[in-house]
Amino acid sequence: MARFTVFGNPVQHSLSPFIHGLFAQQLQVKDLEYTCSLTSPAQFAAAVAEFFRCGGAGANVTVPFKTAAAQLVTHQTERAARAGAVNTLIPLGHGQILGDNTDGYGLVADLKRQLELSSLTGLHAVILGAGGAARGVLAPLCEAGIERVVIANRTLPKAQELVRSNADLPLAYASWQDLDGLSAHDYIVINATSASLQKVTLPLSNGLLSKSRLCYDMMYAKTPTQFIQQASKAGATACADGLGMLVEQAALSFALWHAGQLPDTDEVLRRVRAELLNS
Ligand code: ATR
Repeated sequence: MARFTVFGNPVQHSLSPFIHGLFAQQLQVKDLEYTCSLTSPAQFAAAVAEFFRCGGAGANVTVPFKTAAAQLVTHQTERAARAGAVNTLIPLGHGQILGDNTDGYGLVADLKRQLELSSLTGLHAVILGAGGAARGVLAPLCEAGIERVVIANRTLPKAQELVRSNADLPLAYASWQDLDGLSAHDYIVINATSASLQKVTLPLSNGLLSKSRLCYDMMYAKTPTQFIQQASKAGATACADGLGMLVEQAALSFALWHAGQLPDTDEVLRRVRAELLNS
């Protein structure tokens, strides 16, 4: 039995076991077990070490341990180092662990699906938020061809700091009010704040949201998130939540653990949406 898990807190309602079960079925990977591991900040490092000492074949890491995971791995990929966060752990043997981050890939893959595009070249993006979720996806968005990413945040110095620390990327920062003067014609708006969790409406103009090609919330929920409700009311033509990103990041984790076999995600996403609605 190959054992996989996701470390998080909370994690009991994670969809990852369901998603990886569907991938395994699709690719006929037998004898796979994927569980949830609830742990605490104090016990996270020991729990990871114990899981791999007992033969664990791979693990995901979710909130709030992605930064801690980046600090405990012995090796990390360039994209994980750039994100400062790890969501996929790959055992290398002899206590060595490789940390990777598949979140940016997941977002890019889902944006392409939503926009029905094979490349994001030429599009502009507005990212709302400047925390860990935003930081992790900046480089993948730019590598996918996004021409310019404008980071808007309630606390402006945090957005400025992200621009300063990624000087090689085509980034800019803006206050909420500055976004009204956005000159780009072809842009998408991505919510990477945690405001949806607090049911807060962001101080954005309706025009910004209604003229966007897509309003995307990196969060997802059974019912439309606060941001999606706000965008719909503002007249947005297309909206999507982050469930597709969840499935896509899982698909790349699966490929990293299973000799590069990348699952087909369309049917899996439909089934995961149904599972979420029934939960
Ligand atoms: P994560 O790792 O999920 O990004 P985080 O690092 O705590 O979490 O960042 C949360 C983001 O949501 C930040 O950009 C935060 O803005 P501040 O930097 O000003 O704190 C943003 N955020 C949280 N609550 C918000 C709210 N009510 N209105 C606007 N932005 C909010």
